[in-house]
Amino acid sequence: MTDVQPRRLLRLDIPASACKGSPDDLKDPDMSEQTATPPRKIIIDTDPGQDDAVAILLALASPEDIDLLGITCVAGNVPLALTQTNARRVCEVAGRSDVAVHAGCAAPLQRPLVTAEHVHGKTGLDGPDLWEPTMPLSPVDGVTFIIDTLRREPAGTVTLCPLGPLTNIAAAFEQAPDIIERVQEVVLMGGAYFEVGNITPAAEFNIYVDPEAAQAVLGAGIPVTMMPLDVTHKALATRPRIDAIRALNSRVGTFTAEMLDFFERFDVEKYGSDGGPLHDPCVIAYLIRPDLFSGRHINVMVETGSDLTLGMTVADWWGVTDRAANALFIGDVDSDGLFDLITKRLGRL
Ligand code: RIB
Ligand code: CA
Repeated sequence: MTDVQPRRLLRLDIPASACKGSPDDLKDPDMSEQTATPPRKIIIDTDPGQDDAVAILLALASPEDIDLLGITCVAGNVPLALTQTNARRVCEVAGRSDVAVHAGCAAPLQRPLVTAEHVHGKTGLDGPDLWEPTMPLSPVDGVTFIIDTLRREPAGTVTLCPLGPLTNIAAAFEQAPDIIERVQEVVLMGGAYFEVGNITPAAEFNIYVDPEAAQAVLGAGIPVTMMPLDVTHKALATRPRIDAIRALNSRVGTFTAEMLDFFERFDVEKYGSDGGPLHDPCVIAYLIRPDLFSGRHINVMVETGSDLTLGMTVADWWGVTDRAANALFIGDVDSDGLFDLITKRLGRL
């Protein structure tokens, strides 16, 4: 058994075409204004969740990069009734009650729901004072919205951004297999390898809640980019970073700082880290500034049989199998650049 070398993260797999502009002008977090590429059409599939909320706000603050076609909600951090309510609260705090918010699946494909109130609080959005949203929930369910959107938009032009359990995505693929080849890319938050699990010793929460759904998405034969704990645990909302967001002195800045003040306590107590990991915003930031991230195109499979390691993402980082690569597994991020981007963009709302 050879010793495992110190972690070497290589910019092997983020193609230059994914980086907007030339290398010299990649420094300015707002450099995307100078790029000619049209905004990327996405669906955010989410279980807000404080970190989901920041991801949604970052997307709404970036119209030159992101064309948000709609938000589909899934049961995860808290039950569906709360995730869809929270998604509407986030749109309202951003002044975007025009965004279509859809309720998707209330439970995993085959298993009982596991939630994470111990991390996110009983509302799922603990921290700020909350209100009953007035913007309507769409009458179209989330799975139908995903299917209809992929059938309507030109093939290869819609990116799916799951930030919670992958139940809605897998259900849509099951109900309408014809949409699978029409997906441009799936950029998801989920999984873990070197960082191991956060809900069990082996599994990350989003994958653990619905491992069959995760395996279905990873096995669908479409481009997948994963933001596992390996990278999101480097995206820590430290006190100075939260203070910079609070210093925006805006409704969104205060709302976000209050969410992060609450969100950090669990991870700081558990890991002794300098702040709470901002998992889900890594997905949206990657679409805006892929140059901030690095990873490796490898094979990733999900454990769905063993109770001991259920939901584990078995990532062939060292290429020791002949299993075909099926995911860009992101392992590193320029965390200062990430928070600079988030803070500057939230300042627009
Ligand atoms: O394990 C972290 C993930 O689980 C994040 O998406 C968080 O919001 C929860 O859904
Ligand atoms: Ca989430």
